[in-house]
Amino acid sequence: MAARPRFALLLLVSSLPLLALSKSTIEPCSGSDSCNALLGYTLYADLKVSEVAALFQADPIAILTANSIDISVPDVENHILPSGLFLKIPTLCSCSDGIRKSVSTRYKTRPADTLASIASSIYSGLVSADQIKEANSISDPSIIDAGQNLVIPLPCTCFNSTDNLLPAVYLSYVVQVDDTVPAIAARYFTTVTDIMNVNAMGSPSVRDGDILAIPLPACASVFPRYASDFGLIVANGSYAITASHCVQCSCGPGNLNLYCTPASLAVSCSSMQCRNSNLMLGNVTSQPTSAGCNVTSCAYGGFVNGTILTLLSTSLQPRCPGGHQFPEVIQPPTTVIHESFLAPSPSPTSSQSGGTIKTPSSHPGGDLALPGFSPANGPAGSTSDASSFISSLFHFLSIQVLCGAIRFML
Ligand SMILES: *[C@@H]1O[C@H](CO)[C@@H](O)[C@H](O)[C@H]1NC(C)=O
Ligand SMILES: *[C@@H]1O[C@H](CO)[C@@H](O)[C@H](O)[C@H]1NC(C)=O
Ligand SMILES: *[C@@H]1O[C@H](CO)[C@@H](O)[C@H](O)[C@H]1NC(C)=O
Ligand SMILES: *[C@@H]1O[C@H](CO)[C@@H](O)[C@H](O)[C@H]1NC(C)=O
Ligand SMILES: *[C@@H]1O[C@H](CO)[C@@H](O)[C@H](O)[C@H]1NC(C)=O
Repeated sequence: MAARPRFALLLLVSSLPLLALSKSTIEPCSGSDSCNALLGYTLYADLKVSEVAALFQADPIAILTANSIDISVPDVENHILPSGLFLKIPTLCSCSDGIRKSVSTRYKTRPADTLASIASSIYSGLVSADQIKEANSISDPSIIDAGQNLVIPLPCTCFNSTDNLLPAVYLSYVVQVDDTVPAIAARYFTTVTDIMNVNAMGSPSVRDGDILAIPLPACASVFPRYASDFGLIVANGSYAITASHCVQCSCGPGNLNLYCTPASLAVSCSSMQCRNSNLMLGNVTSQPTSAGCNVTSCAYGGFVNGTILTLLSTSLQPRCPGGHQFPEVIQPPTTVIHESFLAPSPSPTSSQSGGTIKTPSSHPGGDLALPGFSPANGPAGSTSDASSFISSLFHFLSIQVLCGAIRFML
């Protein structure tokens, strides 16, 4: 069903020969509305959290929470993230020249920069040299003076923040060498069909450098339109910071209801207590009765004029809810696991979900990558050498058992 309007996009795109060259999803739009979206970014060098944030004029804390990285680590903004690390960068996706794009990013050129190096290296292929040239009306790309302030147009999509009528936040993903659509789909808990529909693809084939819009299941907010964080949407398994760093919201893993609590950052905040009650934001009390469970909760309702709106609600539910399960939080990464298999991995502390063992988010999506072979040789590939696969897997499992044992001892 959702494929139909997107099929129309394909026709539109193919009628624009210039745009058809760089394969990226084009979403026509009108009006001035915008949405929250994510950019899949791979670090070109070791960079501080604050340096990554500066590249996108993004909030460092928001980048960390979007990647479920612990923000309570002292001086976390100066933590150095490793080259090759994959991060999801939150961005505002607006409507510009009738097309969805993120236009809030500026880059101040440095000596030796070229449009090609800015595009492919510094912004990891999220933009092309031609797009920078066009956005800045550069007539001679061979002359780039240091200190120029360039607009960097970045790809994003909103699609009404839904996918198949369910809340979704869209990740702009640059296809890497050896990526396949089935592998990307598996990594992001979606399907090949869905990726094809969203991107109006005729066949599930991609080339490195293509940019795909990947729908991530998410928790949507229902804040009033006048709230400054109207439209807040948080991807499953991650966090968002809002209300001037006073409120932290999370999504998943148990359900896709947005769950907000006071943030642990040392900032001064307006009251986060629900009116006419002693409950604080995120508190839930339950009382078993003969008719079921009487559940009262104090929820976050948006940030309006510096005030944190709270919503007190009571409902009768069949069963009393258990304690809230949070998405796993990881320590700030120091290594990229799939690149250096034997490097010590930071221990996944602060985990409040406790279930599965997860490696830090060094691989796109933060899911568990089998070390020792590239995505194309992984389970989705057709040419993988079975014996090396099995030995890698065995090696991998023994490392995981070891990690589990260490974790257990701690
Ligand atoms: C967008 O999504 C909302 C629900 O989130 C729905 O009510 C609305 O009809 C959708 N609009 C379009 C154009 O699909
Ligand atoms: C949300 O993520 C968890 C793992 O973090 C997964 O088990 C669950 O199926 C995901 N939910 C959806 C709707 O994708
Ligand atoms: C209520 O929420 C506050 C802030 O998150 C927390 O410190 C407190 O333990 C919670 N109280 C109850 C009863 O859940
Ligand atoms: C449910 O709990 C709330 C607050 O504790 C109380 O005001 C309300 O009367 C209770 N409702 C029922 C049906 O017990
Ligand atoms: C916010 O404050 C301004 C001035 O104090 C007021 O005019 C405006 O109506 C307020 N907005 C809302 C949504 O309360």
